[in-house]
Amino acid sequence: MENEQKLLIIVGSVREGRFGPVVGSWVAEQARLHGGFEVDVVDLAGIDIPLALPAASPKSAGDDYPRPAGMARLTSALEWADAFVVVTPEYNHSYPASLKAAIDWHFTQWTAKPVAFVSYGGAAGGRHAVLHLENVLTELHAVTIRDGLAFPNYFTAWQDGEPVDGDAPVYAKTLLDQLAWWSATLRAGREAAPYPG
Ligand SMILES: Cc1cc2nc3c(=O)[nH]c(=O)nc-3n(C[C@H](O)[C@H](O)[C@H](O)COP(=O)(O)O)c2cc1C
Repeated sequence: MENEQKLLIIVGSVREGRFGPVVGSWVAEQARLHGGFEVDVVDLAGIDIPLALPAASPKSAGDDYPRPAGMARLTSALEWADAFVVVTPEYNHSYPASLKAAIDWHFTQWTAKPVAFVSYGGAAGGRHAVLHLENVLTELHAVTIRDGLAFPNYFTAWQDGEPVDGDAPVYAKTLLDQLAWWSATLRAGREAAPYPG
């Protein structure tokens, strides 16, 4: 549908043997069941994301920003999206370097769009990672969503690709309802007038 909100799910971990794709697949399933979005998933493990950035800023360079060819899939998906779900683990009380690099190679693609989080990890369930992401994405004029999903001790909290907690789909629906509201509201705002940022 033309007016359907476009949701991009970003799988943030790229580590060998990572758990991230299990969480990403489940979130994508919940988003498709929700019905309010056209859904795409980008896995950062398949994207070329160098740590060395160009001299120019991605904000001022706009379309002329010299990104590697292997990043085009990520850039076009970020541009396409009206809303994001970032799936992140927690590494040393923050989020993975792959996610930070992916964020830093872009700017306007995040502007005036909502971002929700699904996190997992040890005891804290990735909450430190999400706090840092909220801080960083605000700098890019993204809007972060209050309700997130956090899975502490993911190694016991998941079984056969699903959360053990039978209420997890209910929490996912709340997150997606909030995201859909922000997505429609901010897209209408972007279409009505250029964002002053
Ligand atoms: C370098 C590194 C640091 C980690 N630090 C934390 C941490 O601070 N807090 C936590 O809850 N889990 C931590 N963990 C455990 C990860 O959350 C867990 O391994 C998770 O599966 C990582 O996601 P991934 O498998 O998708 O890479 C760490 C893991 C790694 C590899």
